[in-house]
Amino acid sequence: MIASKLPAVGTTIFTRMSALANECNALNLSQGFPDFDAPQALLEAMARHVRAGHNQYAPMAGLLYLREQIAAQLLQYRGVSCDPDSEITVLPGATEGIFCAVMACVGHGDEVIVFDPCYDSYEPAIVLAGGRAIHIPLALHSFGIDWQRVAAAITPRTRLIMVNSPHNPSGATLSAEDLLQLQAVAEQHNLLVISDEVYEHLVFDGKQHQSALQFPALRRRSFVLFSFGKTFSVTGWKTGYCVAPPALTTELRKVHQFVCFVAVTPVQYAVADFIAVEPDYPATLPEFYQRKRDLFCHALQDSRFTLTPSAGTYFQLLDYSAISGAPDAQLAVEWTRQHGVASIPISIFYEEPPAQHYLRFCFAKNDQVLLDAAARLCAI
Ligand SMILES: Cc1ncc(COP(=O)(O)O)c(C=O)c1O
Repeated sequence: MIASKLPAVGTTIFTRMSALANECNALNLSQGFPDFDAPQALLEAMARHVRAGHNQYAPMAGLLYLREQIAAQLLQYRGVSCDPDSEITVLPGATEGIFCAVMACVGHGDEVIVFDPCYDSYEPAIVLAGGRAIHIPLALHSFGIDWQRVAAAITPRTRLIMVNSPHNPSGATLSAEDLLQLQAVAEQHNLLVISDEVYEHLVFDGKQHQSALQFPALRRRSFVLFSFGKTFSVTGWKTGYCVAPPALTTELRKVHQFVCFVAVTPVQYAVADFIAVEPDYPATLPEFYQRKRDLFCHALQDSRFTLTPSAGTYFQLLDYSAISGAPDAQLAVEWTRQHGVASIPISIFYEEPPAQHYLRFCFAKNDQVLLDAAARLCAI
């Protein structure tokens, strides 16, 4: 009937594990979303704007009012000036932005470097654009980038490098030195960059997020993606934005206007109002999530898992090699059924999974859920 354009793609692991968690009435630490509410003022702003009749199409690039608030946040948190007119585009989620950026710059036969474990939306976008993903594994355990391997993987057909920091699923972050390496390799080979920074505010232990926007020569060739869903605990609102130089923004918008055309209008008003009133809210997030990370890790102290506390994101990897040598995909299912805690196996984010034994747990959950989950994991 139809030849699939994505024959290797099935239902995402997030959908499958959440469905299994529901079926088993398990604690769901698999999919990455908070189980607590967003700030009350943001929820009220949303209701207010729906009632005020802000329910028709917004401008294609996003409300100027919101883009101005975004520019103010970028100045406050990253120390960079961005032009709301020509460099900032509001999008219905970072995922749509990544898709549009890939469509805008990848052509038939182009090669795109991605790092495994790799967020699952990247490769389908590359394939649909006619390109080919070149997978480079991150270092075992540290999940760092081996820049020599990157240099060795570049061919005349390489067009784009996609990076993600803080990194889902490992929680690793890129250092300033990493971004300088990225900048050098992109300049040397005239490559474009997609920098997925949706967890920008979730960086722990006093460290600072390093954004591609803060490295001028890198910024000139980058699409940088952010997500209000992550920052404001409203993943279901699917709203984010892309910052890119004017020429790249023009091409991104050409695709975006025929994929989704616009992001949801009352969400844009609500987020803009909230940022205007609470510009310092994102600065509270490292402490808030670090405390949850520490609560979860501490409660696992007497378990048979081993762990290194996550450097960023709201994900914690647990190494189960002292418990079992079984594949992670098998254990994620078994332990959801037997022990009532759902997680994500990270092998599915690899082209060729290495010999390691990690499950990913989301700690954006109420404290009691984290403690209950840890108690169940300690019994394994
Ligand atoms: C690395 C990464 N990029 C992008 C996204 C998607 O963000 P959004 O919900 O704004 O589309 C996620 C969500 O889990 C993510 O983990």
